[in-house]
Amino acid sequence: MGRSLLVIDDEAITRSHLRLIFQADGYEVVPCESAEDGLREIAERGFSAVLCDVKLAGMDGLAFLTWVREHHPEVPVVTITAFGTIENAVAAMRQGAADYVTKPFGADEIRIVVERAIERGELKNEVVRLRGEIERRYAFGSIVSRSPAMFRVFEMIRTVADTDSTVLVTGETGTGKEMVARSIHFNSLRKAAPFVAINCGALTETLLESELFGHEKGAFTGAVRRKEGRFEAAHRGTLFLDEVACMPPPMQVKLLRVLQDGEFERVGGTQPVRADVRVIAATNQALADLVGSGRFREDLYYRLNVVPIYLPPLRERPEDIPTLALYFLSHYRKQFGREADAYSDRALEQMLRYRWPGNVRELKHVIERGVLLSRGPVIDALDLPKEAGPIADAADSRGAAATAQPLREYLRDCERRYYTALLRRHEGNVTRALAEARIPSKTFYRRLHAVGLDPRLLRG
Ligand SMILES: Nc1ncnc2c1ncn2[C@@H]1O[C@H](COP(=O)(O)OP(=O)(O)OP(=O)(O)O)[C@@H](O)[C@H]1O
Ligand SMILES: [Mg+2]
Repeated sequence: MGRSLLVIDDEAITRSHLRLIFQADGYEVVPCESAEDGLREIAERGFSAVLCDVKLAGMDGLAFLTWVREHHPEVPVVTITAFGTIENAVAAMRQGAADYVTKPFGADEIRIVVERAIERGELKNEVVRLRGEIERRYAFGSIVSRSPAMFRVFEMIRTVADTDSTVLVTGETGTGKEMVARSIHFNSLRKAAPFVAINCGALTETLLESELFGHEKGAFTGAVRRKEGRFEAAHRGTLFLDEVACMPPPMQVKLLRVLQDGEFERVGGTQPVRADVRVIAATNQALADLVGSGRFREDLYYRLNVVPIYLPPLRERPEDIPTLALYFLSHYRKQFGREADAYSDRALEQMLRYRWPGNVRELKHVIERGVLLSRGPVIDALDLPKEAGPIADAADSRGAAATAQPLREYLRDCERRYYTALLRRHEGNVTRALAEARIPSKTFYRRLHAVGLDPRLLRG
């Protein structure tokens, strides 16, 4: 696409002078005699740059500049000021003009100024674009995993984030349900609005109702003024209903109504209130069973379960155990200023044999304690409760079979599976695989070699 230039000047002679110069350079030039005309043009189509006189009848150049900076920040604006009015140029630069020229100007001078403004603008847009790309790529930066089951969860988050579908996140305690809910919110178009969380299991029925829906002044003793509830607080954002299975039946009816009609009443109120809210619910109980035994409304269950996301327990994705342990280690060693940056085989074996009833949260706490108490570069042993059975007791879990192998072989196998999946996803393209894995290329090739993988074999 060729370059295009919007020229705004009330002097016909300057307009035709500029048109000649830039048309000769291959620009498409659109001349306007007022800022108002300029606004119409720029609202219609894109320009590589704008050249604008500061002193104009009607809307002046500075007001125009301010409008463009706000609505089309990607378009650089060069201002034209009359000789002897340098203060106008200074004001324009303060308001974000890319550059300025003073009348009278030579053809070469204005060419250079405009070209430089466009190039700088392109560079800046490129930086913005790259930053956006990095955010997208690292959108799951805080959810660490190398397990295929969790990759499917990431895929799901990406797919549903931009919709308003209700999501039901299930999984045992500590598997990362709230993290997933936040990730959906912060990857969605609602990310600038609030993410509001409420734990339905921690409040009595009366409190829960006034927390969710708010109350009017005088609704009950102590309601000295109107208070808005979490639904209103989450307007245009996301409401996270944690432990939704604990919601008492009368509240289930009210929740169903909001989900269906987007309407509710504050406690003690008669006026319906509307809020634009996306709901994500979570539970660590088998909601379908509660429906079966009549403790959870079936209609509400279907309303909530539009998009189900299930987080497997840690013992069913043992390849995540060393990964998460290393991730938490690097976090806590910085926080506590410890030198530890590796685990002994013994510590790794302990981790892999343990059942982790508290899942990732428990692992996080165990590592925190381990790092805090560590002496020296290697964490030799972890302080794990004895009463929970070893992973090998869980006959049904994949972890059981996995840890039956000698530890080194098992880890090697995990790593091999990880790198194979990674390279497959990128069709053997190492550059892209490295970008996703975020590890130095030296380490990458060393690990590939160690597990006996050749990226060339995974191409195509
Ligand atoms: N994949 C992961 N990567 C990094 N941190 C994780 C991951 N999964 C969970 N965590 C961490 O573990 C802790 C528990 O996660 P979270 O609160 O999301 O779990 P939960 O499923 O909501 O638990 P509960 O049912 O007990 O409320 C948090 O500190 C979270 O940061
Ligand atoms: Mg939680």
